Amino acid sequence: MMRTPLAVANWKMNNSISETIKFVTEFSAQSLPDSVEIVLCPPFTSLYTLGIALEDDSSIKIGAQNCHYELNGAYTGETSVEFLKDMNCSYVILGHSERRQYFSEDEALLTKKLMTVLETEISPIYCVGENEKQRDAGETFKVIQTQLSGALSKLSKDQIERTVIAYEPVWAIGTGKTATPEQANEVHAFIRKWISDNFGLSFALGMRILYGGSVKPENTRELMVKPDIDGVLVGGASLKATSFFDIVSSCQNS
Ligand code: PGA
Repeated sequence: MMRTPLAVANWKMNNSISETIKFVTEFSAQSLPDSVEIVLCPPFTSLYTLGIALEDDSSIKIGAQNCHYELNGAYTGETSVEFLKDMNCSYVILGHSERRQYFSEDEALLTKKLMTVLETEISPIYCVGENEKQRDAGETFKVIQTQLSGALSKLSKDQIERTVIAYEPVWAIGTGKTATPEQANEVHAFIRKWISDNFGLSFALGMRILYGGSVKPENTRELMVKPDIDGVLVGGASLKATSFFDIVSSCQNS
C-alpha cells in the first residue's frame, strides 16, 4: 500500500512570531514537492499567525505540540483542542518524550487526550520511544508495547485510521545520535505488527509511522528508503527553512 510521506517540524519552545513569519516566507518560496505532506508545529503563540500566513497555501498544514483533554473549563494555562480547530490545525503531537519526562504525562492521561482529539477532525501524532537505559537493558520492545497498548488499545478502527505514530528513541532526541536506519526500521516493523495484531492488517498497512531523533538533511534519505519508515518528526533541523526544505525534499518516494 502506498502511504503518503509525512514530514513534521516540531519547533518545541523555539521561534517567535517574527521568526515564524521569516521561516514561512522563506520556506513557502521553495518549490515544495506535492508528494510529501508537510506539517509545521510552532509554539501555541505562533499558531494563529502561521494560519493567517498560510491561508492561501494548502500545501503546508499546521499542527500543535500538545493540548488538554477537556474542551473547556477551569484549567489555567492549558489549550483546548477546540482552540486548535479554531486556528485550522490538522494535527496535534501527543506524548512527546519531553512531555512524558518533564510534565509527567503517562498513558492514562494520553488516552484521555487522544479520545478528545479524535472527537474532532484533528489527527493525533502519538509519540513512543525508549530511553538509553531501557535500550541497553534490552527492553525496547517491551517499552514500546506498553506505550502502544496503554494508550491505543481502546481506540476504534475509525480512530486508529486517523492516528499517526512517531517512534522517537529518547537517546536520539537532540543528541545528534540518530538511530541507524536498521534500528529504526526494526522498531517501526514492530509497531506495524502491533497495529496489525490489534486492529487488522489493512489498518497496519495504511498507518504512517514517523521516525524522530536527530533527523537532518544528510540522514533523511537513508531512513526514508526503509520499508516501514513513512516520514520524519524533526526538532532542531526544522528550525531553519533551508534545512527543513532539504529534509522535505528527501522524503519524496523515489
Ligand atoms: P531533534 O528532536 O530532531 O532535535 O532530535 C526531535 C523531536 O523531539 O521531535
